[in-house]
Amino acid sequence: MTAEPATRVLQAGADAIDAAARTLAAGGLVAFPTETVYGLGADATQGEAVARLYAAKGRPAFNPLIAHVADVAAARKLAVFDEAAEKLAVTYWPGPLTLVLAKQPNCPVADLALAGLDSIAVRVPAHPLARQLLAAFGKAIVAPSANRSGHVSPTSAAHVLTDLRGRIELVIDGGACEVGVESTIVSLLGAPALLRPGGIARAEIEATLGSRLTLAETAGDDAPLAPGMLASHYAPKARLRLNAENLHAGEALLAFGKALPTAGPVLNLSARGDLVEAAANLFSHLRTFDAGGATAIAVMPVPHGGLGDAINDRLTRAAAPR
Ligand code: TXA
Ligand code: MG
Repeated sequence: MTAEPATRVLQAGADAIDAAARTLAAGGLVAFPTETVYGLGADATQGEAVARLYAAKGRPAFNPLIAHVADVAAARKLAVFDEAAEKLAVTYWPGPLTLVLAKQPNCPVADLALAGLDSIAVRVPAHPLARQLLAAFGKAIVAPSANRSGHVSPTSAAHVLTDLRGRIELVIDGGACEVGVESTIVSLLGAPALLRPGGIARAEIEATLGSRLTLAETAGDDAPLAPGMLASHYAPKARLRLNAENLHAGEALLAFGKALPTAGPVLNLSARGDLVEAAANLFSHLRTFDAGGATAIAVMPVPHGGLGDAINDRLTRAAAPR
């Protein structure tokens, strides 16, 4: 693989899956759609490919990656499943849930991808293209979101190209991602803990487990509690002001529900106040404001609960001082 690859874009289909599997096997980097956001995939077992992945994203190597696998059986080869893990896997996979578990002693995933930890994050994605790719490749694919580190996650192939063109070999274009925010991350290393709110609501997971989830606090940038839980993350170029009830001069408006009156630029997460629609639009609207040169964005309040937790989490990080 060359240092500066020309990035090919292939429309979803059998040829794209075939090319993607071959590119991964050769140590290349392939962006592909999942139901949450686009992932940037590398062969989980090739340390060199993983190193190139960190470089392409500009991601600090202390921040471990999620191993994506085709099914629970494949996940059990990487991680130790206790009763709670089995329950969650059976209920939510394939789907937007990531489990952090103890890694198997003979886990073949490269140490670099796990940032040297004894734990591993595993997930079985639901998107048909992701599933086809995992089946064709036949091994685990490590895949962070396919954006430059610290930037907003991509929910379309165009977003991926904006961030990574010329840095990766291939993008499979499968259209827009349905969920729009990343997977929910639950750690089962100790008492079940919510590391990142995401596509599956906390309350649903608690109902399945029959117990409450501990909340991981957000740590500072220097010593992230859960690696990657950096206070400033998912950041657009513009400054964000949350829970806005009026507009300041020069601000663009990111609305939810009935929009505040404004003569300036406005995008609505969901005019009908639907959290599912809002999650699907979130990153794309932030990128549209960036592309339009917005410097300040007022964000209307988004209710908590369900997908609202994930949306508010990403907005809070996007608004954090950098
Ligand atoms: O929806 C998703 O999860 C997407 C799609 C592509 O699957 N992936 C994704 O990956 O969001 P990424 O790398 O952007 O976020 C993964 C998060 C990071 O915050 C990382 O620190 C955390 O998972 N993580 C990975 N391994 C971990 C571990 N062993 N312990 C705690 N956190 C871990
Ligand atoms: Mg990410």
